[in-house]
Amino acid sequence: MAQPAYDPRHFPVMGDEIIGMAAPRDGEIFVDGTFGGGGYSRALLETANCTVYAIDRDSTVQETALAMAAEFSGRFHMLPGCFSQMDSMVGEQGIKAVDGVMLDIGVSSMQFDDAERGFSFQNDGPLSMRMSDQGLSAEDVVNDFEEEKLANIIYQYGEEKKSRRIAKAITEARNLERITRTAQLASIIEKSAGYKRYIKGRKQIHPATRTFQALRIYVNDELGELRRGLAAAERILAPGGRLCVVSFHSLEDRIIKNFFKQRSGSAPQGSRHLPQALDKTESGNNESSFKMIVRGAIKPSKKEIEQNIRSRSAKLRGASRTTASPWPTNNTGDETCSGL
Ligand SMILES: C[S@@+](CC[C@H](N)C(=O)[O-])C[C@H]1O[C@@H](n2cnc3c(N)ncnc32)[C@H](O)[C@@H]1O
Repeated sequence: MAQPAYDPRHFPVMGDEIIGMAAPRDGEIFVDGTFGGGGYSRALLETANCTVYAIDRDSTVQETALAMAAEFSGRFHMLPGCFSQMDSMVGEQGIKAVDGVMLDIGVSSMQFDDAERGFSFQNDGPLSMRMSDQGLSAEDVVNDFEEEKLANIIYQYGEEKKSRRIAKAITEARNLERITRTAQLASIIEKSAGYKRYIKGRKQIHPATRTFQALRIYVNDELGELRRGLAAAERILAPGGRLCVVSFHSLEDRIIKNFFKQRSGSAPQGSRHLPQALDKTESGNNESSFKMIVRGAIKPSKKEIEQNIRSRSAKLRGASRTTASPWPTNNTGDETCSGL
């Protein structure tokens, strides 16, 4: 994997808003669960004399992390792995509770722009899409999964109406030749879904966009990681600790919104409106474990969108931890996480 260059001027999405919400103070401890280019970690460390434990499942962030550890000596610690395990990872460092957790869900620009990582259909590369060095790749999924399973993944995680047609085209194509490249897959999808680019609102999107999104989410178990990560944050946050989460599409935002709704007591309990995404064991009479910092989601400013078009779909939600016990979850501890 190519190493991303260390860039101390890296501007993270909604950096000001997230720092406003996290409100770091001297002596506090934070978890940056999605380190990436280190934008949130840096902003925290520069705003207060606090300590940051950063987590990332991508080993290529090490270069940036090493530079940051040298710059903020003793206040910055990199923990390689998945944020769903943040409570045990931080616990192993002798930390029982933290004052803030930030999550910036999805792939980083560095990952997306590196053709060798296989996230993009615009730059041809191997069909990997793995954030870490382990686990299933997109190549495994498109070549080895049954057509119906493939169609379900494309429908569920890509919200792609033409999922069956696309899955059929993929299975036909792979019978002739193994699909190993992003451009090869994009071309198969383009031929089956029609050359006309989709119109979403007034924005045109490439016909392969939704299928690529679906494969990426599936390969990295992004929604499972998010659900388990929110629950892990609930366990590790001290009373008054802030949980700040940025997401980029509706599937993620729905999980975050429902988690906060339920944990802050604003969701109807035990009703037919109970979000499917939440575990059944969570529907009991639990005390509110979070208090919303802001109602609804914060969106990037017009200025930020002009400067960084990728920020346009970002949403920031945040809540602070109460003194109530963490809610029970169905997590068995057996869930796999491809960390490094
Ligand atoms: C959107 S980027 C974060 C960007 C970061 N806020 C910054 O300022 O540069 C997401 C990062 O989180 C990592 N990541 C995504 N899911 C993860 C997970 N479940 N556990 C650990 N790291 C994860 C990715 O590898 C990627 O580096």
